[in-house]
Amino acid sequence: EWILHNDQFIQEEDLKISMEDRGYQFGDGIYEVIRVYEGNLFTAEEHIDRFYESAEKIKIVIPYTKDVFHKLMYDLVEKNEIDNGIVYVQMTRGCAPRVHQFPADCPPVIVANTKSMERPVEAMRSGVQTKFVEDVRWLRCDIKSLNLLGNVLAKQEAYEEGLFEAILHRGETVTEGSSSNMYGIKNGVLYTHPATNLILNGITRRVILELCKEQGIEVQETAFTKSEALEMDEFFMSSTTSEVMPIIAIDGHKIGSGVPGELTKKLQKAFEEKLK
Ligand code: PDD
Repeated sequence: EWILHNDQFIQEEDLKISMEDRGYQFGDGIYEVIRVYEGNLFTAEEHIDRFYESAEKIKIVIPYTKDVFHKLMYDLVEKNEIDNGIVYVQMTRGCAPRVHQFPADCPPVIVANTKSMERPVEAMRSGVQTKFVEDVRWLRCDIKSLNLLGNVLAKQEAYEEGLFEAILHRGETVTEGSSSNMYGIKNGVLYTHPATNLILNGITRRVILELCKEQGIEVQETAFTKSEALEMDEFFMSSTTSEVMPIIAIDGHKIGSGVPGELTKKLQKAFEEKLK
């Protein structure tokens, strides 16, 4: 298994990360997960743009052009002969004696690896169950930060109950999933939280909103409440790894008739067409 360390390809066992890496000590860094279908990076430019935007938001300068960065991702996939899978890439502010403020002369540390992964076809066919979990994260969820403790704790709470995802809410307002975006459909209109500081604007989310336009599905980027969520005709989530994933129950309460909805299935199909 090759991994990327800054601009070098090395074997994973040869990677040395300092105890004083700020990612390790502060979660002071950012990441991306990019999907690979049939050896091709899906929506790579969008992911790379978001990576550069996240870096800028936390004031880290990436020492490569986007083209060079793209090539590094591509070469890693090729070296590891990944057919279907993901690239995980992260960048921390670098290594320095531990102080909270940014250290001087601290080059960032980039690492990336790949993993083979098939599409979750079974779950996408049957739909998944979820629960509400209070969103206790910080107020810059638009940054794809390595600080994922709020997300980890929420996902674990769902996982312990045998559920696929936690639906986060701030007070009564549904924001997003622990590692996904959330959508409800009512009377043919698709509702999803607007792309504010309270959610990560998913790349899959952007593809889906585009597909809605193409399919003539009306979209309202308007937040909805927990009780409105339970009254939706259809519900689904999206992410790089889960694509368009139907949600058939929240807190044991069936959504619609408790099976994947028609518009959700239409979007799944349209999404699949994009992969060809
Ligand atoms: N998670 N919201 C959150 C909090 C996320 O962590 C993710 C992605 C998304 C969906 O974004 P995208 O469609 O760009 O994958 C929304 C990735 C997959 C992860 O952490 O593994």
